Amino acid sequence: MSGSSIISPPISQTSMSPLWCVTVLALAMLSVALEPDWYKRNKETIQKIYDLTVFPKNAVIISEGASAVPEGLFNANTTGRITPVGEFFGFQDSIEYFFGLAPLPRGFPPNGAITNATLVQFTSGCAEVAASTVYLTVSTINRDNSTGPYITTLKQTAFWRFDNTGAVLKYEAWIPSLDRFVGPLNGVLDFYTPANMNNTILGVCAQQAQTCVGNNTVYNSVPDCVQALAAKPFGRYDEAWGDNVVCRTIHVLLTKFRPEVHCPHVGPTGGGKCIDVEYNDAFFNDKFLFGGSGEPFNCNL
Ligand SMILES: *[C@@H]1O[C@H](CO)[C@@H](O)[C@H](O)[C@H]1NC(C)=O
Ligand SMILES: *[C@@H]1O[C@H](CO)[C@@H](O)[C@H](O)[C@H]1NC(C)=O
Ligand SMILES: *[C@@H]1O[C@H](CO)[C@@H](O)[C@H](O)[C@H]1NC(C)=O
Ligand SMILES: *[C@@H]1O[C@H](CO)[C@@H](O)[C@H](O)[C@H]1NC(C)=O
Ligand SMILES: *[C@@H]1O[C@H](CO)[C@@H](O)[C@H](O)[C@H]1NC(C)=O
Repeated sequence: MSGSSIISPPISQTSMSPLWCVTVLALAMLSVALEPDWYKRNKETIQKIYDLTVFPKNAVIISEGASAVPEGLFNANTTGRITPVGEFFGFQDSIEYFFGLAPLPRGFPPNGAITNATLVQFTSGCAEVAASTVYLTVSTINRDNSTGPYITTLKQTAFWRFDNTGAVLKYEAWIPSLDRFVGPLNGVLDFYTPANMNNTILGVCAQQAQTCVGNNTVYNSVPDCVQALAAKPFGRYDEAWGDNVVCRTIHVLLTKFRPEVHCPHVGPTGGGKCIDVEYNDAFFNDKFLFGGSGEPFNCNL
């Protein structure tokens, strides 16, 4: 928080007039007095968003969908990019990413779920824009849903733009070393052994057989799915956006929300989502993604 950064007295001015000093002081006090309102508001909004990834709050959204997301956190048109996962257009798409992918404990002893969301870095230089880093602590979950031993941490750094009510309108976020996170999350040292990769394919195919049914069927059978996916590159989580298996492990989790939208992503063609994207296009299509100048994360001071 830098209350005086908008005032930059000329460096060459060696003797300030008393009037200038008083003006600077008054402006500084004014901005310090005014700043906390939106600074605090923005910080609380971001904290509330990440708190909803904490188990079992995420479980409620996963079972009840968008209606379980409190009002005021996201604008209806919220849009953003999460590297290395993809781009998300609109409220439904965005909340599915933020909450639908937050892990649920599975099996016993269970793999982890997020048990704490701590903002380790936060700044907001104006009402419209903030930047943050969150540590999402993953721990095992005991049978009574209490927090068990620590497993690992997911880090996410993000720029945010808020609408004039303080809801998130645009975001650009990064998860560093997602590849190194999935091993501990799944309780394995190396996620990419042949046996683990086979099991992952079997898991995706079994899950889609539960959710991608009727009109949303994308494979004739589980063996058909296994055969199709075994023929594709497995991919790496650090580059999850592609026509590969890891992309489908992410999107299959979303098929329970809107099967008609997400089943094609898991299917043989990738449905326009799990497709190989051009680096030069996909990571720099800021005007298309964000609209306007494509640079929404600047304060208009
Ligand atoms: C979302 O965008 C549509 C189309 O541009 C617009 O009509 C609507 O008012 C926007 N909603 C919000 C909450 O800004
Ligand atoms: C999360 O961790 C932080 C830092 O260790 C702590 O201050 C906070 O109370 C924790 N929150 C919850 C809900 O446990
Ligand atoms: C643990 O949380 C899940 C998800 O909210 C819930 O379905 C389950 O009943 C809870 N278990 C216990 C023992 O409270
Ligand atoms: C993985 O599955 C393929 C068939 O899809 C099979 O040929 C191979 O032996 C399996 N490898 C392991 C380690 O299970
Ligand atoms: C499939 O879609 C058609 C046309 O939209 C609809 O009439 C039919 O009820 C749907 N079937 C199932 C099983 O969802």
